[in-house]
Amino acid sequence: DWTMAEFRAAKIAEIREQVGDGKVICGLSGGVDSSVAALLIHEAIGEQLTCVFVDGGILRAGEAEQVVGLFRNHYNIPLVHVEAQDLFMDGLAGVTDPEAKRKFIGKTFIDVFEAEANKIGGAGFLAQGTLYPDVIESVSFTGGPSVTIKSHHNVGGLPERMNMKLVEPLRELFKDEVRVLGRELGLPDVFVGRHPFPGPGLAIRIPGEVTRERCDILRKADAIYLEEIRAAGLYDAIWQAFAVLLPVKTVGVMGDARTYDSVLALRAVTSTDGMTAQVFQFPGDFLPRVATRIINEVKGVNRVVYDYTSKPPGTIEWE
Ligand code: XMP
Repeated sequence: DWTMAEFRAAKIAEIREQVGDGKVICGLSGGVDSSVAALLIHEAIGEQLTCVFVDGGILRAGEAEQVVGLFRNHYNIPLVHVEAQDLFMDGLAGVTDPEAKRKFIGKTFIDVFEAEANKIGGAGFLAQGTLYPDVIESVSFTGGPSVTIKSHHNVGGLPERMNMKLVEPLRELFKDEVRVLGRELGLPDVFVGRHPFPGPGLAIRIPGEVTRERCDILRKADAIYLEEIRAAGLYDAIWQAFAVLLPVKTVGVMGDARTYDSVLALRAVTSTDGMTAQVFQFPGDFLPRVATRIINEVKGVNRVVYDYTSKPPGTIEWE
């Protein structure tokens, strides 16, 4: 019988074997996958691991504080916090194509990781929390034609020439299994239960051009949406919930004045592995209440819509 304890022991041996006495850089995204990968690798090779958390200005509200707090204070695992907002925002200027965004972000993450690797005297390995569904969806759908749906930042979004070898201990696992492993490794429940968050972050939730201003608007709206979901006790019933800031302006009225501002879409889905997803049906007045709060509190948004698309035919993220 295969158990998570056995998986953990086997992977630790495998990581030690692959890495030897080399150094490993682990990119932390704030999500469950990279956190679990980091804990597992730390258990395997301890001080040979350096975690790198990159803030490219495409994170959600409070994300940096939570991740830095967990790794530095709770686990005492060395963590480099890189402030790379300018690098990402400058590079994203004028980019509107979803795959171009993904490729730029994937490449820029690697540039930052390589720079950090050089600072610690070189690292031969880059660790990522890649899961089985990431591998499948970035490569092709089995049985069908070989079509790339999206270049996942931790798979297909990587540059072809990279100096570090990949360490991906979760490559065979599905999300629910990663959560079991996370619990096994003592990851706090709030982290284990976190909704997935994509590597390219808010950039792929802003169709059209990504700017600092649009990231700020989206961050505020997203925080309100998630705060209300938590307050209603619905967070754990949902696989993933987030807001998308659309490149569409509509006319509205506030007080006596005309407004002409952006449309924001809300999305919430249930799923077991992210490969298929169903629309989450909120009870009664939940969505109207959230819409009112967002329009009142977030400057730049004057209309809120809800996305009723399942996967397939939609994908979970909009880009
Ligand atoms: P889609 O949008 O393809 O997403 O239906 C399926 C799941 O994968 C997440 N996702 C990503 N995760 N890097 C990641 O780490 C990525 O580039 C990426 N793109 C999508 C998405 O949030 C959903 O949970």
